[in-house]
Amino acid sequence: MNAEGRIQQFLEQRKENHLFRQLTVNQYLTDFSSNDYLGLSRSAFIWQQVEQDYKNYHFHKTGSTGSRLLNGNSALYEEVEDLLAKTHHAEAALLYNSGFDANVGLISTLVRPNDVIFYDELVHASIHQGMILSGLKLISFKHNDYIDLEQHLQANTDYEAGFIITESIFSMEGDKADLKKLADLATKHKVNLMIDEAHATGLFGSNGSGLCNEAGIEDKCFARIYTFGKAIGSHGAAVVGSRQLKDYLINFSKNFIYSTALETHNLLSVKHTYFYLQSNINQLFSLFNLNKYFKFKANNLKSSFEVRGDGPIYGIIVPDNKKCKDLAVYLQNHNLDVRAILSPTVPKGTERLRVILHSYNTTAEIDQLFSLLIDYK
Ligand SMILES: Cc1ncc(COP(=O)(O)O)c(C=O)c1O
Repeated sequence: MNAEGRIQQFLEQRKENHLFRQLTVNQYLTDFSSNDYLGLSRSAFIWQQVEQDYKNYHFHKTGSTGSRLLNGNSALYEEVEDLLAKTHHAEAALLYNSGFDANVGLISTLVRPNDVIFYDELVHASIHQGMILSGLKLISFKHNDYIDLEQHLQANTDYEAGFIITESIFSMEGDKADLKKLADLATKHKVNLMIDEAHATGLFGSNGSGLCNEAGIEDKCFARIYTFGKAIGSHGAAVVGSRQLKDYLINFSKNFIYSTALETHNLLSVKHTYFYLQSNINQLFSLFNLNKYFKFKANNLKSSFEVRGDGPIYGIIVPDNKKCKDLAVYLQNHNLDVRAILSPTVPKGTERLRVILHSYNTTAEIDQLFSLLIDYK
């Protein structure tokens, strides 16, 4: 079969189902959609710190010019990894080029044919990709349902190593996992706990170290994943855990071994944003207050829409891909950047408008959003 003909068929099917994805150029509408929770990607202060520090690196090159094991490593890389390990209270941290890469690189390398993974049914696509590549027995438990998880743990005990994989704050639902409960279950059933902290990085815990820190379970995790494309306002990710885990990944993780390392500017942005988070920043207070305001408004919307999430990620449920997309376009036409999340990215019937709050949003913007939703016919 002609490959062009086949891909045309797939694309047409997507269009018929209102699922065709297209790239759009950012229109600079009111931001209810980016992951820049604290506005740090646009912080003039951090930018200045990065620029100043950049001058310290005598051997300037645009790219890192190789993978870490060849030419790509540097003193700066080691410094940033030390900073990450300290901030996240782990023995070691290993940088990956993105969160997607970190999840795939970690999960697919770690597990062996006789292992079992127990995972929350709503985990991110990158975790799925890592699990698919691992090719082993996968058991999903109902979202944040630890009775269901424990039943699976009791019913499936025939494995070499067991793993529980979940997110600390869910990227689409906006709700949080009960990390203490998960840590207790992992200890009780002698399985290894892996937590993806992508959306918690920079927002929760001391110095933005995450929800595992807030829950006091950092040392109960076998591995944790922190990403820098969200509240950190940059790019890349780290797996944190034992020194031995780091050595293992350096030796066996193909995503790490066979990919060009991050460049200097990227590493400096991560470094200076982590430094910045060590101060008592106002952005967190603004976000916290907006979150309270949003919840108050959402309560009044209950009769028309179901609103999910605990903030700063919310889902306004609009079942049906087309209806959901139409409502997103209506809001965009009124200057609000709100995106539709369609099935199969989320389960059918739970299509939603994903609303993300930022420290730089205003109560007036939230008012506008809710007025438009109430008026929408
Ligand atoms: C829970 C979770 N893990 C991993 C990722 C991937 O991170 P990155 O964007 O750095 O590839 C995302 C991104 O949306 C995410 O939400």
